Amino acid sequence: MSETSETDRYAFPHRVLHWLVAVLLLLSLASGLTLGFLGFEGAMERFGRAGTDFLYTSHKSFGVAILALMTLRLITRLLFVVPDHDPPLHPFQRVLSTAVHYLLYVALLAQPMLGWAATASGDFPVQFLHWHLPGVVGVNEELSERLFVWHGWLGWAILGLVALHITGALYHWLIRRDGVMTRMSLF
Ligand code: HEM
Ligand code: HEM
Repeated sequence: MSETSETDRYAFPHRVLHWLVAVLLLLSLASGLTLGFLGFEGAMERFGRAGTDFLYTSHKSFGVAILALMTLRLITRLLFVVPDHDPPLHPFQRVLSTAVHYLLYVALLAQPMLGWAATASGDFPVQFLHWHLPGVVGVNEELSERLFVWHGWLGWAILGLVALHITGALYHWLIRRDGVMTRMSLF
């Protein structure tokens, strides 16, 4: 393969957003699954009032940050040129990786909106750090319960997509060594 130049990589702002979202997503999945497994009562028993509040507020803040960064990222994705693969990907890998990338975009925009709507319709505060954000959706407990169920399912789907994505990235980086990793790396 020829030497890497800046035109072989995603634009720098897009690469920064990729890694910021990656870190925030791992934190929001870890905090979300902890809340999902323990529930409010379990979290109170284990972490006490202050710890539980911290866990909920952190989870919501990570999620709101992901929504903002994914919106920016959609803009940088449309604004900057997407580099061609050199050497070209096998058609199967191209179709699979593109499908996973698109699904991740859709899921990472939908999931925080679901969490936001589920929280607001359950009459819980939508928080970003110490700010309270507008609820947007009216209070409706039945709707809230349904949206939280979807939020849980989509959380597992995101975990599966991310596992596929990371497996693919590691395969290109460590086994194929074909420069796919360089397209997204910061250095
Ligand atoms: C990409 C961002 C997000 C991801 C990946 C995510 C993921 C998750 C997951 C996996 C769970 C556990 C669900 C379960 O097992 O029942 C969860 C729970 C929860 N999420 Fe999120 N979430 C995100 C954004 C948000 C946002 C923006 C909010 C609110 C502003 C939010 C509020 C909640 C709440 C309150 C729970 C606890 C639900 C319960 O106790 O049943 N999430 N989240
Ligand atoms: C954990 C959350 C992650 C998410 C949500 C995510 C999402 C994405 C998406 C949507 C793309 C397509 C490019 C774009 O349009 O933005 C992409 C590309 C890429 N990601 Fe990730 N990623 C994550 C983690 C990782 C990790 C941990 C690695 C490395 C081990 C990685 C390596 C790559 C590489 C190498 C590309 C470029 C692929 C190509 O050139 O087609 N990603 N990522």
